[in-house]
Amino acid sequence: MFNLILFGPPGSGKGTQSEKLIARYGLKHLSTGDLLRSEIARETPLGLAVKNLMARGELVPDEIVIEMINSAMDNNPRANGFLFDGFPRTTAQAEALDKLLSQKDTEIAIVLALQVSENELVNRLLKRGQTSDRIDDQKEDTIRARLTEYYKKTAAVAEHYAKFDKVKNIKGEGTIDEIFDKLSDEIDKKQNVKQD
Ligand code: AP5
Ligand code: MG
Repeated sequence: MFNLILFGPPGSGKGTQSEKLIARYGLKHLSTGDLLRSEIARETPLGLAVKNLMARGELVPDEIVIEMINSAMDNNPRANGFLFDGFPRTTAQAEALDKLLSQKDTEIAIVLALQVSENELVNRLLKRGQTSDRIDDQKEDTIRARLTEYYKKTAAVAEHYAKFDKVKNIKGEGTIDEIFDKLSDEIDKKQNVKQD
């Protein structure tokens, strides 16, 4: 299995690049944000429980997302590998993920961390807010709240994986194709090393 984390702040392009990467590498895309939005759209008890937190741009509790990821992995027993997008977002989530993967005799191969300036992030999300129905893109205050959560709780996830020398920083500004090429280069390098 080849498992990777596409890491980065809100608006850094995780969802955009994930679509392209899963098509090239045949990975199963697991986005906790998408899974949570689907729960909200279906008005499940879980969706109702997290709706207000997400609308305010706050993280939902670790137990909820860890359980969601656990079931999603169990529901895809034949996956060649997983691309985690928007997860893990706290050190506790990272430790839980490492444990789940090791129970399946696998691990995170690489963490690709998209680097984008704060101005660019806010601009991208405000722009998307004009046309999308994502409630957390509508107001600059909510976008800033998401960024604050990221710096406070999520940035530490990169430090966790840096301890194991798994993090590659990639400039996330430029065209979508330029960024995709840089991400693909890192994956190809990693996969070639593995085959040696
Ligand atoms: P989530 O859905 O993960 O959202 P996010 O991290 O806030 O990030 P986005 O999805 O907005 O951005 P992205 O990096 O995917 O970028 P995108 O490709 O869309 O999380 C939402 C909420 O769910 C959280 O706030 C939290 O409440 C909850 N949640 C989710 N996971 C959780 C977890 N693990 N633990 C706890 N809570 C959790 O691109 C953004 C925009 O930029 C798009 O319009 C795109 O077209 C544009 N764009 C992309 N690339 C470029 C480029 N190169 N140049 C110009 N524009 C670009
Ligand atoms: Mg996304």
